[in-house]
Amino acid sequence: MDNLHWWQRGVVYQIYPRSFKDTTGNGVGDLQGVIEKLDYLYTLGIDAIWLSPFYPSPMADFGYDVADYCDVDPLFGDLATFDRLVAEAHKRRLKIIIDWVPNHTSDQHPWFIESRSSRDNPKRDWYFWRDPAPGGGPPNNWGSFFGGPAWTYDERTGQYYLHQFCKEQPELNWRNPEVKAAMFDTLRFWLKRGVDGFRMDVIGLIIKDKDLRDNPPNPNAPANLPANDLFSRLLQVYNMDQDDVHPVIREIRGVLDEYDDRCGIGELWGPLDRWVKYYGEHGEELHLPFNFRLMDGMSWNAQQMRAVVDAMEAALPDFAWPNYVLGNHDRTRLATRFGGQAQARVAAMLLLTLRGTPTIYYGEEIGMEDVPIPPEKIQDPQGINLGAERTRDVCRTPMQWDAGPNAGFSPPGVETWLPLAADYATHNVAVLSADPTSILSLYRRLLGLRRTRPALQSGAYRAVDVEYDDVYVYYRALVAERYLIALNYAAEPRTLAIPGETAGRIILSTHLDREEAVSLDALTLRANEGVIIAL
Ligand code: NOJ
Repeated sequence: MDNLHWWQRGVVYQIYPRSFKDTTGNGVGDLQGVIEKLDYLYTLGIDAIWLSPFYPSPMADFGYDVADYCDVDPLFGDLATFDRLVAEAHKRRLKIIIDWVPNHTSDQHPWFIESRSSRDNPKRDWYFWRDPAPGGGPPNNWGSFFGGPAWTYDERTGQYYLHQFCKEQPELNWRNPEVKAAMFDTLRFWLKRGVDGFRMDVIGLIIKDKDLRDNPPNPNAPANLPANDLFSRLLQVYNMDQDDVHPVIREIRGVLDEYDDRCGIGELWGPLDRWVKYYGEHGEELHLPFNFRLMDGMSWNAQQMRAVVDAMEAALPDFAWPNYVLGNHDRTRLATRFGGQAQARVAAMLLLTLRGTPTIYYGEEIGMEDVPIPPEKIQDPQGINLGAERTRDVCRTPMQWDAGPNAGFSPPGVETWLPLAADYATHNVAVLSADPTSILSLYRRLLGLRRTRPALQSGAYRAVDVEYDDVYVYYRALVAERYLIALNYAAEPRTLAIPGETAGRIILSTHLDREEAVSLDALTLRANEGVIIAL
């Protein structure tokens, strides 16, 4: 176990800084707030913090529109606060991973301001500028993820620029060597300040088809798409996952490797055979291409989840380390997605007992659910452009620390940037910490077990066939240390025989009320119960 890297051994915890802890009383979380909660994170038992963007930004996409890659937005603090955060985290042996947004800048970034100033500006080629199509209109048919075309016409110079997100997020031209060099320097800036890794935003998008060809129509596009959702009507063929993205990722990895033991995580999706390539042919690209397969398009179904894990385990080359994500700032909360609190507990056991690095999204440990956002309070550009049901605000609401005013997130009397969950008085860190059977206590126990049981960290994974489709059973084994994890997805009890096993000892139940010897000829799981059994 000891020869594992920290990013293999550890558990990542994602913080959306706007929503974690507000220390200035403006309704928005900040870096000082993260510092103040480091002891909470330390005692929770996570190992690394991933911070969503805190860079200077006009906030068109809440920080994913970066106006300066080498500073901190005054809303969140300053570089001195960031340095203190790194130092305080490191004192507690917590690693710091920061978001890096290489595909696009803000339209307020000085590079773009220069680039758009004239056709012959030296930075013109740093972005994608194209003439209108013959006959007028955008240069190709690509759509923006957030609705409308991926091109905006700029009167001043009579050309269009490319943006696959908001029009305030123009895309950088990574085929230009000056862009690469400038962006590599932004990595070095933070590496020198001591960050331990980067989560790289939409990394599969940074290289596009050389000729920017039209994407083909998507034959499976849902019929009821909003009229402006041009993106979902097309297959994403020429705008992402181009073969020639891989040499660039190897160069990015080269920059990380100039420093000791830093980690590169990429935001990626798409089919398994394409996704797995981002590890590189011999592990020379990303350490962890984020794996969203248990999240995207997944319902609460034991067999579907098992199939996804088995397929991924089979697809990974020996050098590749798995990882799992069940929630983030772009998706509905897992408790909402999978059906409720009972499912959220089983999901926690799944996430923290699979082989590979888990990422926990802030608030999952207290079972946060989607918070309904009144239409006039919607902030997310995706929700504003594509309709209220697509808003990501629902999963970005303030962290619930206690039962006091504003849930202890902001001082009393302040209006928080998004509404608080209606149930915060009962669903918060203070209340759940005091309850030994709460979901928070479950997370603490799971994280503690994972940290102290080598087989749960790095042991081999093998699924077991059992007689019920709604029970997912697997082994984690390292030499003589063996565990069986049995997860009942059904809302009723199941009694099953584990082939080849006779007895074991339950060391943790998601209900947190039993630790006992059990017969494995007839193992009874209660409704929505998961157990870890030591063999
Ligand atoms: C992916 C990020 O996770 C999302 O929040 C953002 O809107 C887009 N990339 C654009 O940067």
